Amino acid sequence: ILGCWGLISASGASGTQNRAQHTAGGPWELLRRHKRSWVWNQFFVLEEYTGEEPLYVGKLHSDVDKGDGKVKYVLSGEGSTSIFTIDENTGDIHATKRLDREEQAYYTLQAQAVDRLTNIPVEPRSEFVVKVQDINDNEPKFLDGPYMAGVPEMSALGTTVVQVAATDADDPTYGNSARVVYSIISGQPYFSVDPKTGVVRTALPNMDREVKDQYVLVIQAKDMVGQMGGLSGTTSVTVTLTDVNDNPPRFSRKNYQYMVLESLPVASVVARVKALDNDIGPNAEMEYRIMEDGPGVFNITTDEDTQEGIIILQKPLDFETKNSFNLRIEATNRNIDPAFVHLGSFSDTTSVKVTVEDVNEPPVFPTQLNKMVVSEDARVGISIGRVSAHDPDSSNSAIRYSIDRNTDLERFFNVDALSGVISTAKPLDREVNSVHNLTILAMESHDPTQVGKGFAVITVLDINDNPPVFAIEYETLLCENAAPGQVIQTISAVDKDEPPSGHRFYFALPPSVASNSNFTLRDNKDNTASIVTKRGGFRRREQVLYRLPVLIVDSGSPALSSTNTLSVSVCDCDSDGVAQSCGAVAYTLPAGLSTGALVAILGCIITLLGKNNRDVNYWRQASQDSLNFYC
Ligand SMILES: *[C@@H]1O[C@H](CO)[C@@H](O)[C@H](O)[C@H]1NC(C)=O
Ligand SMILES: *[C@@H]1O[C@H](CO)[C@@H](O)[C@H](O)[C@H]1NC(C)=O
Repeated sequence: ILGCWGLISASGASGTQNRAQHTAGGPWELLRRHKRSWVWNQFFVLEEYTGEEPLYVGKLHSDVDKGDGKVKYVLSGEGSTSIFTIDENTGDIHATKRLDREEQAYYTLQAQAVDRLTNIPVEPRSEFVVKVQDINDNEPKFLDGPYMAGVPEMSALGTTVVQVAATDADDPTYGNSARVVYSIISGQPYFSVDPKTGVVRTALPNMDREVKDQYVLVIQAKDMVGQMGGLSGTTSVTVTLTDVNDNPPRFSRKNYQYMVLESLPVASVVARVKALDNDIGPNAEMEYRIMEDGPGVFNITTDEDTQEGIIILQKPLDFETKNSFNLRIEATNRNIDPAFVHLGSFSDTTSVKVTVEDVNEPPVFPTQLNKMVVSEDARVGISIGRVSAHDPDSSNSAIRYSIDRNTDLERFFNVDALSGVISTAKPLDREVNSVHNLTILAMESHDPTQVGKGFAVITVLDINDNPPVFAIEYETLLCENAAPGQVIQTISAVDKDEPPSGHRFYFALPPSVASNSNFTLRDNKDNTASIVTKRGGFRRREQVLYRLPVLIVDSGSPALSSTNTLSVSVCDCDSDGVAQSCGAVAYTLPAGLSTGALVAILGCIITLLGKNNRDVNYWRQASQDSLNFYC
């Protein structure tokens, strides 16, 4: 926009229009044109000039220049060679190129008047500015677009959605080239935009996500305050309505019916029911509950993926006891928004009928474990107890009993197929097997695949059928130097029977040897007895071995007894009564035996081993201290 011509002082500090013409004592003047006020050292030049001729910027003039051609004008500084030219005679400045304010808004230049002949400055150098004047050559731009935004469905009218902003590269301090106004081109009547701030708001109340959940708006920004001729730019705003819990759950049917077998295992899924909900995510989360269920046979949980209710069996079913259940099931939204409870209850109920189907079940023993006792001496064929099973089905089939023979391999027992009475089939021996654990099979007469199992645990009671015997096999040694009245052995006894009040054994010498002159027996009355010498002077040379019969009697009723023989070997003993050698008379080996002799001795021992084990034992005991051999 062109203003009027003016003239200002190049060196004045505060040029005004009043003192503009040939005043202020400045040695030279700038001629310029300006629209509003005189600025002493500024030229203005319009950007984007498209004319063919260089654009006139202004004129420099020095007081020293008397118009006689002695003064020459010189330009230096930004663009002084590339953009701006000066007529060295007249001081006229032209721009030779198109200028773009948005690229460079100011150029700082220096002007000087010099003597044409000597090139000596006739004035001090002076600085001035060429300011590029804006035109509206930039449209507003949405640098952050396109926008994505969300707003809850059911929001009130005027709820803020998002704020958009356009920028305009033109000069914001000058004119309206950079003053934008926003308007909505697409998206009415649902949304509006504030013309000044760019804030996008809802323009309708209660928009429903379940009807339409996304809107794409087009927002325009136009400069020149939106007037005709302004430049404009647009952006899109995608607005998503976010879900709120404004839809209650509803079962699609008022009743459901399911069928299950009575054999369904506990923890199995009986059925799945679902209450529908138009909301999504947390607003469609469901809690299920069984309101009427009778004996707590079923439970319901939520499948977190599908929000279905899973009905699960909690207790075993029995067709014969109860063949149908009527459950009342309630579904409730987990996250209820108080703002929407006025729309109705966020719960719903439905009826679920579960019908139980009969399956053929095997016979059952009311008491699985049947305990029985039988005496060890019970005669074969005697009844010792009875097992009983029944068919739980309504058909109540007849039952046949048998013994699982793997549990009675030796067939000690029989069971009556019809009555279930168990009897002995063989003599029993408590000392071999005191408890029999039989598996009893109960089979439906008409369907042999239906087999139930019970157990009969039969305890065999003891009778006194075992006589007492020596506790161990005694190896009694008798020293040649033993004195009369010396205890040479203490004996005890064992009995395989199991008397209820413990064992009591009686010891005695049988009448045939009761009055022998060699040994006596003393019953210690504590289930032991001592064997005592009656005389001294036993000699190996006379008799190597004595066999003493001992009578042991138990306390059973009737009592049982046995006669056990105690072997007594006569030994050569040292003064402490420690046996040196026993049995046959010994021969002491000379030191340094030849191999041949050793082989002979070994052969002798081997012969002995074959012949009489006991004697070798004696030799082993006796030979610990000295190398004695006998054959
Ligand atoms: C009898 O045998 C069954 C099956 O082998 C077992 O479960 C049970 O514990 C046994 N009973 C006795 C008392 O040993
Ligand atoms: C007692 O010793 C004598 C002489 O050695 C013998 O003849 C007799 O058989 C022995 N009696 C018994 C019961 O050992």
